[in-house]
Amino acid sequence: MTAFALAIGVGTKNSKGEWLEVYFQRPLLNPADSLVSAALETLGYEGGNMALDVDGGELTAFADAIEAVAPEQAALARACTESVRPITVTILDTDAPATSTPEVYLKLHLLSHRLVKPHSVNLAGMFGLLPNVAWTNQGAIDLAELPEAQLKARLNGELLSINSVDKFPRMTDYIVPSGTRIAHTARVRLGAYIGEGTTIMHEGFVNFNAGTLGVSMVEGRISAGVVVGDGSDLGGGCSTMGTLSGGGNIIISVGEKCLLGANAGIGIPLGDRCTVESGLYVTAGTKIQVLDDQKQVVDTVKGRDLAGKSDLLFRRNSITGAVECVTNKSAIALNEELHANN
Ligand SMILES: CC(C)(COP(=O)(O)OP(=O)(O)OC[C@H]1O[C@@H](n2cnc3c(N)ncnc32)[C@H](O)[C@@H]1OP(=O)(O)O)[C@@H](O)C(=O)NCCC(=O)NCCS
Repeated sequence: MTAFALAIGVGTKNSKGEWLEVYFQRPLLNPADSLVSAALETLGYEGGNMALDVDGGELTAFADAIEAVAPEQAALARACTESVRPITVTILDTDAPATSTPEVYLKLHLLSHRLVKPHSVNLAGMFGLLPNVAWTNQGAIDLAELPEAQLKARLNGELLSINSVDKFPRMTDYIVPSGTRIAHTARVRLGAYIGEGTTIMHEGFVNFNAGTLGVSMVEGRISAGVVVGDGSDLGGGCSTMGTLSGGGNIIISVGEKCLLGANAGIGIPLGDRCTVESGLYVTAGTKIQVLDDQKQVVDTVKGRDLAGKSDLLFRRNSITGAVECVTNKSAIALNEELHANN
């Protein structure tokens, strides 16, 4: 029996027994059949997509059954028998839309563990399954239970510090992907895909189901669904348009070796080796004069007509105010300079 994903998780429930969040230390994509069979035999798994609540006895039996084929998972299962927090073994038979909070968390983990690329996993219906949670120095707390927890902390002479109130936690509380630098951890949500060699500076932001595929310097915003190719840089305060609220339905992406200048923005996907001048926002409807090498206007097109095309430089002519597009000659040199000190 093959499955899409399997993971052992430790999480938090509210006082009603509802999941608030789950931490999966070692999620597996396409787990070995023997693990799924062991779950059928020892955990009461009945097939399909299930977030199983498991106790210490079941975990020990599961660990014994998988010891020979998956010693790391077995060790994790044994460690979880000591947990004071609830444990789940979540198994996704297929990538069908999630039906529970642990299933959504597993899919977000698959992204941030780089086991699946943005857009390659089915996240339909996820918002309704992610509770809005107070993320505190003592873990996740249900908002309805927060005043009580705050009072309890004060009476104990402690401060309950709230880092954020959100449906998504920060990624680094769950996984720090190898080869990354993240200056301000609150600005990268769980479900972000951060490529090996990427630096996210303080102004950088990465939403879920979005990120960088390789080496990038990110000082701007990567909206939900936006993917940035290897060797591309996002300058300070720049913006990539999302599709969640009024951003249209074109999914924005940035190809390889591109540069979005400081405070620039794009509402169209870029091909490879493109540069957008700092301060210029190119939307799908922006009318753009295309210039030849002699700086003569050869065409006037809309941004969407240039979507995905490579080797373009977009700038706003500082004399006429017209947005212009010329062949990009300096993209690679600029990138090499910026990456020298990644
Ligand atoms: C758009 C950009 C890439 C152009 O840089 P460039 O290709 O090196 O061009 P130059 O500045 O050398 O200018 C070439 C010529 O075009 C002119 N020019 C440049 N931008 C222009 C504009 N917006 N309008 C009119 N002319 C312009 C220059 O004056 C120069 O003219 P000249 O040939 O008469 O001397 C650059 O201005 C830019 O915005 N870079 C982004 C950098 C950035 O933000 N990095 C991230 C930091 S966090």
